Amino acid sequence: MYGIVNKAIEDLVKANFGNEKWEIIKANSGVDVDFFVSNEPYDDDITYKLAGAVSEVMKMPIEDVLHAFGEWWVLKTGKEKYGGLMMAGGSNLKDFLINLPIFHNRIMLIYPKLTPPEFKVSDIQENSIHIHYFSKREGLQEFVRGLLSGLGKMYEVPVEIKLLQSRNEGNHHEIFKISWT
Ligand code: HEM
Repeated sequence: MYGIVNKAIEDLVKANFGNEKWEIIKANSGVDVDFFVSNEPYDDDITYKLAGAVSEVMKMPIEDVLHAFGEWWVLKTGKEKYGGLMMAGGSNLKDFLINLPIFHNRIMLIYPKLTPPEFKVSDIQENSIHIHYFSKREGLQEFVRGLLSGLGKMYEVPVEIKLLQSRNEGNHHEIFKISWT
C-alpha cells in the first residue's frame, strides 16, 4: 500500500499513545523503514506488520486497531489532508455512500499504482443501504467498519453498522448494512 497508509498508522499511534510508543511498535514490527514517503508504494506486508505490532504492544485486539484506524483515516487523513476530495464524495452520508463505488477513481489520479477496494451498493432505502465490499486483500473487514463509522461521525449522523455476510463464513465478499437516523 502507498506510504500514506503507513504514515497514517504512525500518526494515529503518535497522537494517541505518544512518540516513544511508536518507536517501540516500529521496532516490534520488524519493519526496517526510517520514514514513509506518501506517494511511494510499499509491500502490503509492511502495513499488516505495523497494525499487528500496534495490537501486540498496546494489547488491543487487531479488530479494534483496524476499526480505530478506519475512523482515523476518514476523520484525520481524509478530512484534514484530502478535504476537497472528501467533500466531492457527497453532501450527505447517503450520497457519499451511493458514490462510494467510484470514490477511488479520483484517488487513482493521485496514486496511479493504487490497488483500490471495490464497492457496490444495493437495497437503497430512505435510512439505510447495503455496502458490498470486494478486495484482493484479506482481513480488512473491521477497517471497513471503522471507515463507515468514521463517515457517520464526519456527517454527524448516528449510524448502526451490521455485517450481513463475510468472507470468514465462505462468502465471496462482505456486505455491510448501514442505517442512520
Ligand atoms: C480522500 C480519502 C481517501 C484516500 C486518499 C484513500 C486512499 C487509499 C489508499 C492510498 C489506499 C491503499 C491502497 C494501495 O495503496 O494500493 C486505500 C485503500 C483502501 N481504501 Fe481508500 N482512500 C480514501 C477514502 C476511503 C473511503 C471513504 C473508504 C470507504 C469508506 C475507503 C476504503 C478503502 C479500503 C477498504 C481500502 C483497503 C484496500 C482493500 O481493501 O484492498 N477509502 N485507500
